[in-house]
Amino acid sequence: MSSSQSPKSPKGPESPRSPASHGGKAASPEPSPAPPAIVALSAEEIREAGILPGAHWTEQPIEQVDDDGASTIGSIASTTASLTSTIFEYRTVHGRTYHGEIGNAESWEPNDQRHVDSLDIFHHTFMLSLGDKLFLSPLEKNKIHKVLDVGTGTGLWAIDFADEFPNAEVIGTDVSPIQPSWVPPNVKFELDDCNREWTWNEDSFDFVHLRMLLGVVSNWSDIFRNAFRCARSGGYVESMVSSAFFRSDDGSVKKGSALEQWHSIFWEGGKKLGRTFRVLEDDLQKKAMEEAGFVDIAVKDIKIPLGAWPEDKKLAEIGLWWKMSLESDLEGYLNYLCNALLGWTTEETAAYCAHVRKEWNDPNIHSYVWLRVVYGRKP
Ligand SMILES: C[S@@+](CC[C@H](N)C(=O)[O-])C[C@H]1O[C@@H](n2cnc3c(N)ncnc32)[C@H](O)[C@@H]1O
Repeated sequence: MSSSQSPKSPKGPESPRSPASHGGKAASPEPSPAPPAIVALSAEEIREAGILPGAHWTEQPIEQVDDDGASTIGSIASTTASLTSTIFEYRTVHGRTYHGEIGNAESWEPNDQRHVDSLDIFHHTFMLSLGDKLFLSPLEKNKIHKVLDVGTGTGLWAIDFADEFPNAEVIGTDVSPIQPSWVPPNVKFELDDCNREWTWNEDSFDFVHLRMLLGVVSNWSDIFRNAFRCARSGGYVESMVSSAFFRSDDGSVKKGSALEQWHSIFWEGGKKLGRTFRVLEDDLQKKAMEEAGFVDIAVKDIKIPLGAWPEDKKLAEIGLWWKMSLESDLEGYLNYLCNALLGWTTEETAAYCAHVRKEWNDPNIHSYVWLRVVYGRKP
């Protein structure tokens, strides 16, 4: 299933910093223990979860669906780094690359160029979804000096935040070195596993931001406990996640359809990985923030259509961007979960993806997901 290969397409040789200790606190310089091997779901587990077999999707006839959502957006140039660090020894699963074993996270998400492009498109989509905002917390500009973006991905949020807050120092962390090297002077990126005990000093940050860490965080209580310790008094923490559950108010997402199956694939996959995708359903952000001691917690749920079906023009635009963001690397979002965990062949995953695309493009199917932003203040 997996093998390492030569360094590939990080955006620049200077971008990643080694996993570091922060503020003089003791870090663990030794490599993390090897992650436990992930075992695929058994046939019984798959049946019990109501997940249809991969062959089901290859047997269903389907019209040809356009597959070039990403190419219309354009891709971002990448350069090949000369670093020989193991950081760049990505695993491969059915032709896609995944980050190496920093920390104990076996990632379900690829880190190759196609996925990087998808994350960049998603950045625009997320902002659009929040009404052209980067965050919803009531931040006062003159009080924001130091900011942490956990699981920063391609770092666009950190870069845009740094542009908007030129007097703040913004640090983006990730286990994958997929951030650009040319960034505003007040941004830096570091390699860090958010599931390990944070080594930042106490009371360091005025804002801690966590966006779309579904299937990433192994313990949401630990994350917010760490965020609480590292936040300054008066500082904010904000977390945004989407649901993996495609709903419809008119029953147009039918049982046994590709969209109806989506959440079972992600929920069962998350269970197997030990990193849940049911963050919104289990209200984990709010619960963990309360547990940690944050106050003035606000929860905002936003209904996100998939596709251009809403009559409202703004909603239709948001729906198109979500569809396009997911379609730009649909196979990437599903490859690991379907192939490695469910045991599907590449052809079966591709057939399932084709059915998903067809349903998103069907104007009679009015699917949507919930997006949830939760923020709170350290007293
Ligand atoms: C869905 S992406 C979200 C990226 C970014 N927050 C955004 O909203 O654009 C999830 C990110 O989490 C990173 N990630 C996965 N496991 C991680 C870990 N244990 N610690 C830190 N980052 C991790 C992945 O490499 C990926 O970049």
